[in-house]
Amino acid sequence: MATIAKPQQDFSILPDLPADVFTAPLKKPAHVGDDWLEPEQTNYTAEDHAIWDDLFARQMQVLPGRAANAFMAGLEKLDLGRGGVPEFGQLSEELGALTGWSVVPVPMLIPDHVFFWHLANRRFPAGNFIRTRETFDYIQEPDVFHDVFGHAPMLTDPVFADYMQEYGRAGWKAMRYNHLKALGALYWYTVEFGLIEEAPGDIRAYGAGILSGPTEAVFSVEAQSPNRIMLNVDRVMRTDYVISDLQPTYFVIESFEDLYRQTVERDFDRLYRSLGASFTYANTAVIDVDNVIHQGTQEYLLRGGRGSGAKPV
Ligand SMILES: [Fe+2]
Repeated sequence: MATIAKPQQDFSILPDLPADVFTAPLKKPAHVGDDWLEPEQTNYTAEDHAIWDDLFARQMQVLPGRAANAFMAGLEKLDLGRGGVPEFGQLSEELGALTGWSVVPVPMLIPDHVFFWHLANRRFPAGNFIRTRETFDYIQEPDVFHDVFGHAPMLTDPVFADYMQEYGRAGWKAMRYNHLKALGALYWYTVEFGLIEEAPGDIRAYGAGILSGPTEAVFSVEAQSPNRIMLNVDRVMRTDYVISDLQPTYFVIESFEDLYRQTVERDFDRLYRSLGASFTYANTAVIDVDNVIHQGTQEYLLRGGRGSGAKPV
């Protein structure tokens, strides 16, 4: 039987964002080009470096025993606690030698299609600024601490490093199907808020959104409130998520190889064809097909969540 070869995608070319695809409206600063890259990394002040060091020290109080081994090993390999905001050139050299990745400075959140393009070429875009003392505990816009401390260590793991590149490549297809939200949910529940079962009963965090802050590092793996459910890609890509509060549900992988197999080694065409325009499942839902490790009480959320004084229990 004759088969029609699919055209090979050229991932070196910045993809066009199809006109009917909705993404967050972002205004490109005048000094950056279509790649959204800053000409150079910011020169951080002594206070900026001190903020990095204090954030680093705070995380080291809570991460041992809660962060995935791969993450802790990555922190060590990149020596991110050497003092001050890491210099991207040196960081990229070290990362490059390990897995071929680099870290590149961007001014702010960048559009999805540009983000995908950088990932597809093993470049991780990192916010070229750091939070202030006033926003020390929480900022919504990812800064250099979230992006470098949270994401760079996992890029030293060869399987996870490949997963991230393939995620970027997958963006082309998601844009063609107009299902960026679904692919975004996969990123959210793995790269940002993923958990891994390292040994029976030993659940650790590998997601950058968890590991770059002290509260969720504890909440995600120990609290009674959230659900912890084994990752099923179809289910996750149909699940809504919260951006500005602790997650009501975390998805757990067996290993990074398993994550890679479940996502990269499958064809998303059928999945995209069967998806509706909005999410099927609420972020608190537990459904029949779920392999549930812990069914959460949702007490934190029911008491009002962020800003209500509810304890993250
Ligand atoms: Fe992030």
